This record gives sequence, structure tokens and C-alpha cells, in this order.
Amino acid sequence: MLDRLEVPVIAAPMAGGASTPRLVAEVARAGGLGFLAAGYLSVEAVAEQVTATTGLTDRPFGVNLFVPGPRSTADLAGYRERVRAQSPAEPGEPRWDDDAYVAKLELVMALRVPVVSFTFGLPAPEDVHRLHAAGSTVVVTVTTPQEAAQADRVGADALCVQGCDAGGHRGTFADDGVSPGGGELFGVLAALRLVRDRVDLPLIATGGLVHGADVAAVLAAGAVAAQLGTAFLATPEAGTSAAHRQALAEGTRRTALTRAFSGRPARGLVNRFLSENEGSAPPAYPEVHHLTRPVRATGDPELMSMWAGQTYPLVRPAPAAEVVARLVSEARQALSVANARIPPA
Ligand SMILES: Cc1cc2nc3c(=O)[nH]c(=O)nc-3n(C[C@H](O)[C@H](O)[C@H](O)COP(=O)(O)O)c2cc1C
Repeated sequence: MLDRLEVPVIAAPMAGGASTPRLVAEVARAGGLGFLAAGYLSVEAVAEQVTATTGLTDRPFGVNLFVPGPRSTADLAGYRERVRAQSPAEPGEPRWDDDAYVAKLELVMALRVPVVSFTFGLPAPEDVHRLHAAGSTVVVTVTTPQEAAQADRVGADALCVQGCDAGGHRGTFADDGVSPGGGELFGVLAALRLVRDRVDLPLIATGGLVHGADVAAVLAAGAVAAQLGTAFLATPEAGTSAAHRQALAEGTRRTALTRAFSGRPARGLVNRFLSENEGSAPPAYPEVHHLTRPVRATGDPELMSMWAGQTYPLVRPAPAAEVVARLVSEARQALSVANARIPPA
């Protein structure tokens, strides 16, 4: 179904409150596809959001799930002490959990959600099979050609190819704990072309795409759709916090990949917490996520995570349906300019 979207634009799942049923419904109304983000939410809250979305639109939409990883064996006491010294809030207990993965999986199957996407790892082949039986299209986020080949083998219908330019968490299956992005870093075009060469599945491109010309570029490079996150953070339908919106609008901070907030590489705006802890956070997700939760909850722009893709200063705030319509007309224009530069055969 992803290669038959009326408009090849997807609103990325954005956990932490940014994705809302209204955002998903407005993107669907404009002909695109929107995702709810099940990550961090309770199963009941995911069910409510799915029900709210189906109440607002009868068009297809997606739900994104976090695939749980292994428990960390790292000693987190030192990082906890470090964070305690920097924050007015007492850090949380660094505990592991599976984000209620199995229950959320059962829920999306029971509710027959049209598109189910996975990040941080692979769904089991038997779960992909069950999702297909429930009528769902299965998408897996990948960041390298190797991950793409693995996702192909479990039976994914499409891949979301994420470049290192992307805002938010990298979907890497296993964090190597050493390099800034948890593995080799490919920008969106490099990732797309390398994955295209490796697998024969429909590909969704994501990472730093904010303009219709970017949509045109990834379509020309073989994607069936462009998935945008940061561009939708600035829409009134998104649940983005006021402090985050303001920092995005100012456009003055640089972005960086960091494990400081969650223990998993993610791209966000550089603030005091990020720069002081960039090199110290252990590769321990979700333990570090729980540890920093009270610190992030202060809402202080120097302490909270403010995820953003590399091109965030180019985002133009507007209602979601307008963003989609503008992307379409800009893509059309960009393609006709590009086409005029290619000599006729
Ligand atoms: C605030 C925020 C939250 C995100 N949460 C999720 C998520 O829950 N699941 C997911 O697969 N990707 C998540 N992402 C990554 C997006 O799916 C996408 O890869 C990214 O936004 C693309 O880069 P861009 O922000 O430059 O458009 C998030 C991104 C942002 C900015």
C-alpha cells in the first residue's frame, strides 16, 4: 500500500508527545500517511490514540513500536551521580523495561492497524506473519544495508531507510557503544542508494527532509515516499512542547548525535546537558532514559532533550495539511527544473 499513497509524504512517528491523532488525521486528509508513536506510552494510551485517530479519519495510518533490546550490564551509578550534580531534579532509577512490546503488538493486531512500523530492531518472523494475517503492512526502520538485508529476511513489506541526518533516535538494531551513531553513519541519500542495491522492497526515506525538493530528491533516488519528522514538529497539530518549538524556531543551536538523554544515539539540539554529557553517557537504553526522565521533565531548555534533524532551521511552521500540500507543489516544481537540466535522449 505504501507505493500507492495519494501523496508520497509520511509524518514520522514521534514518541514523547509530538505525534497526535490530530496530526495523523490531518496528514491523511491531505493524502499522506501519518504514524502514531507507541513508544513510552502505556498500552491503554496507545489504544486510546488509535481509537481517537479512527474517529477522525477513515484513511489508513500507522503505529510505530520500539523493539526491546538487551539489559545493560554497565555500571550506571557514576552517570547518575554526574547527572545529579547538574540538575535541580533527583535523577530516576536506571531500570530496564521492554516498553510493553508484546502487549502493544497484540493490541495493533487486534485493532487491525493498517501499517505497523518497528524501530530499534527486528520483529520476529512469526509476528510479521501474524501482522500480515491481521491485514497490516509491516515496515522496519534500517540505517545500513546490512540491517536492510536482515529486515528483508524477516518478511518486512517495506523499509524505512533512516539517514544520520534524522532527528530523534537512530533506529540502529544494536548500539556498538563506541561511534557517535552506534554504527556506521550514512546520510539519507547514501543509505537509500546502498539499501536499494541490497534489497528489492519499497523504501521510505527519512532524515533531514523538510522541503518538496528533498521529497523529489529521494523519490528520484528510488524511494516510494519521504518520511518527515522535524518538519511536522512545528505544526499546530503536533504535541511539541513550547520550549522545544521555541528552540526550533530560533534556529541558532547546532544539532548533535548523543546518548546523553537516553543511552541510545539520537540527534537533538545542543544544550548544556547534551554538551556536558555527550561523551560520558553509557550505551544503556532504556536505563539512561529512565535515569534522566525527571531531569528532562523540568522543561528547562538547557536540560531537556529537544530532538531535531540537521536541516531544522529550514522548517516553515504551518498547519499539517498545508505542509503536505506545499511539499507536493515544491516537489513538482523541483522535478520540472531538474528535468529541464537533463538533455533529451
Ligand atoms: C521528536 C522526535 C521523536 C521521534 N520518535 C520516533 C519514534 O518514536 N519512532 C521512530 O521510529 N522514529 C522516531 N523519530 C525519528 C523519525 O522517525 C524520523 O526518522 C526523523 O524524524 C527523520 O528526520 P527529520 O526529523 O530530520 O525529518 C523521532 C524523531 C523526532 C524528531
